[in-house]
Amino acid sequence: MLVFDADATRFLDDIYLGADFARRRRANFDALDPRPGERILDLGCGPGHLTQDLARAVGPGGRVVGLDPSAAMREAAEERCRGMAAVEIH
Ligand SMILES: C[S@@+](CC[C@H](N)C(=O)[O-])C[C@H]1O[C@@H](n2cnc3c(N)ncnc32)[C@H](O)[C@@H]1O
Repeated sequence: MLVFDADATRFLDDIYLGADFARRRRANFDALDPRPGERILDLGCGPGHLTQDLARAVGPGGRVVGLDPSAAMREAAEERCRGMAAVEIH
């Protein structure tokens, strides 16, 4: 079973920037159709790529809560979303 530790986080953080994952993330984003002011739960947010996209869409008046059981993933998500008023990572 894949363990989402620091090594896996570094590996996936990079992989998720690739074209195939970017397309899938865009498809999820489009399906959600996030609007300014909305509140969204990103369950299993991982390193926070989608969390960051969602936070831009809901804006400072909205909220995106990223939840993940992996400390390394949460750390990467916090780094990626640093300074975004709409984001909470837990
Ligand atoms: C493959 S990553 C996907 C990350 C992100 N959702 C994305 O699409 O870029 C899966 C994430 O789910 C998290 N995860 C695993 N089991 C979980 C559970 N039971 N509840 C919430 N998150 C979980 C892992 O720690 C990992 O960060």
